[in-house]
Amino acid sequence: MKVIKKIPDMKAAVREYQSQEKIIGFVPTMGYLHEGHLSLVHASKRKADITVVSIFVNPTQFGPREDFRDYPRDFARDTAMLDKEGVDIAFSPEARDMYPDGYKTYVEVHDLQNKLCGKSRPGHFRGVCTVVLKLLNIVEPDLAFFGQKDAQQAIILQTMVRDLDRDVQIEVMPIVREADGLAMSSRNTYLNQAERQAALILMNSLRRAKRNIDKGERNAEVILAGIRNLIAKEPLARIDYLEAVETKDLNPVREITAGTLIALAVFIGKTRLIDNMIV
Ligand code: PAJ
Repeated sequence: MKVIKKIPDMKAAVREYQSQEKIIGFVPTMGYLHEGHLSLVHASKRKADITVVSIFVNPTQFGPREDFRDYPRDFARDTAMLDKEGVDIAFSPEARDMYPDGYKTYVEVHDLQNKLCGKSRPGHFRGVCTVVLKLLNIVEPDLAFFGQKDAQQAIILQTMVRDLDRDVQIEVMPIVREADGLAMSSRNTYLNQAERQAALILMNSLRRAKRNIDKGERNAEVILAGIRNLIAKEPLARIDYLEAVETKDLNPVREITAGTLIALAVFIGKTRLIDNMIV
């Protein structure tokens, strides 16, 4: 596996692959990799000739009081994992090259960026869209792989590439979970033992909701109240948001139908975790 740090070197590698008519698959990450990230790598390996994975903890998507500095990093471990998976290139640019002095351009997907996670993390999706468009412009992939874990992110990025005519097929892959059901996340490392146990409430409350929907309950407020009540019983948990929305516009629904997205963010202690399900 090649490790590339400089943007011009990455572009040169891309030109070479393009001249050989290779299909390029791309998996953008912020590193500290786990099986969730690797599921995207596997999908890319299946569908593309060349797999490029970026590792870049993107400063512009963190708020001023968020965990940019503390975000877990382990470059040696990440590159060893990617090498073992047969990834072709790990692209890990420096922040000063991605955002040099005088950097001024940002990408916003209006409306969608202010819902769900965007309400509690203002500016977050502006940072995500900006970095992902830059990465897509550098790597020029045919396919780009994202996780359903970040459902809103995937919806916003699909809208961005459509609106800005970036010819890339976005593939969204299912949520990968720990054996006990907790959605894998680099941020799970923040949890102490008691919090790790308490974090199961996210998935357990979604599972309970699914059982009630399967039994025939369709009223969104009833389903959400069930989730809310269950989470209220967990002393370490505090809901940031909980909504049942349409995937096309992220607007709340009254009635749950096939395709409704039930998404939540919950603080477990100081750690904010997200999870979701599509009915
Ligand atoms: P990061 O949190 O590192 O996630 C990288 C990709 O892995 C995202 O597409 C995310 O949805 C996916 N992913 C994370 N956990 C997953 C899980 N448990 N199951 C399936 N997929 C999972 O998301 C970002 O980084 C950044 O915002 C990024 C897109 C790289 C832009 O900086």
